[in-house]
Amino acid sequence: MKKLIALALAIVMVFGLVACGAGDGGVKTYKVGVAIYQYNDNFMTLYRQEIESYFKSLETDTVKYEISMVDGKNDMGEQTAQIETFITQQMDVIILNLVQTSSAEVLIDKVVAADIPLVLINREPLGETDESYPGIVNNDKVCYVGADARQSGTFQGEIVRDLPDQGDINGDGVVKYVMIQGDPENPDAQYRTEYSIKALTDAGIAVEELVNQVGNWDQTKGQEIAASALTQYGEEIDVIFCNNDGMALGAAAAIEAAGRKVGEDIYLLGVDALDECVEKIKNGTMTGTVLNDHIGQSHKAVDVAIQALNGEAIEDYYWVDYVKVDAEYVNQ
Ligand code: GAL
Repeated sequence: MKKLIALALAIVMVFGLVACGAGDGGVKTYKVGVAIYQYNDNFMTLYRQEIESYFKSLETDTVKYEISMVDGKNDMGEQTAQIETFITQQMDVIILNLVQTSSAEVLIDKVVAADIPLVLINREPLGETDESYPGIVNNDKVCYVGADARQSGTFQGEIVRDLPDQGDINGDGVVKYVMIQGDPENPDAQYRTEYSIKALTDAGIAVEELVNQVGNWDQTKGQEIAASALTQYGEEIDVIFCNNDGMALGAAAAIEAAGRKVGEDIYLLGVDALDECVEKIKNGTMTGTVLNDHIGQSHKAVDVAIQALNGEAIEDYYWVDYVKVDAEYVNQ
């Protein structure tokens, strides 16, 4: 009798497993491919970790997400191969943080041809007139989730504009600045560079650019550029604008090493609102930053990816707002 019961149980278990595997009343597992431009990036690290944990938080007893996340290592050839692998593996949806926006079309075409929904994030491919991208508006299953980089630049400039001396900390009548840029191929870098200064000139403030160099979003490069600018221009520099907080952390170290004091004889701005930088604004060693909402953006990207893999219609663009982070904001 015991043997019979054991046999019956075994049969039930086997059927149970088969049923699950078939997704028939059992568990349905969706395959999600996530391609990140480079793991070695402060902001994108927070972003990608949140993509993973948010997907996990949405799992149920019957719906699971199998995430394959890959590091493009800032190499377009590598990323193209990764997307081709995702297509061969028949992903149910792909989330893509491009290495090069200029290669957007090639990758979009490949994914669309395989009929896989595609959610582009963080690096916005721009159309000819800097507006909507044809590969996004012309394909029902392709969209972009991001933040409008113009807004982040404007916010940076406005923080300086709203200081009591409007950024002219040495009082020579002109706001002389150093601009440390991210990857110039990235619209975030282009727009932040342009719109931060535009917010000043729009307010009638006289400006002069002393240095404008590419630091590729990298802390060490930010430090090197700031250090040599400080050596070359010394007290002439009123403001150091960095396209992101990673580079601002480097610049903060260079400012300290040069014996300068933020808020007393120089200003320092970043973008992203990394925890370390919010701390610095609190203790006065940074003037301001702009919150690049990785939680809002990653959750939106995942929600839209799930909509798409369920066959629901998606929009072309989804925007998440930036938030101005200055001393007043952090002390609230
Ligand atoms: C920006 C962010 C940078 C960097 C870049 C990567 O939005 O501010 O810190 O992560 O994305 O594309």
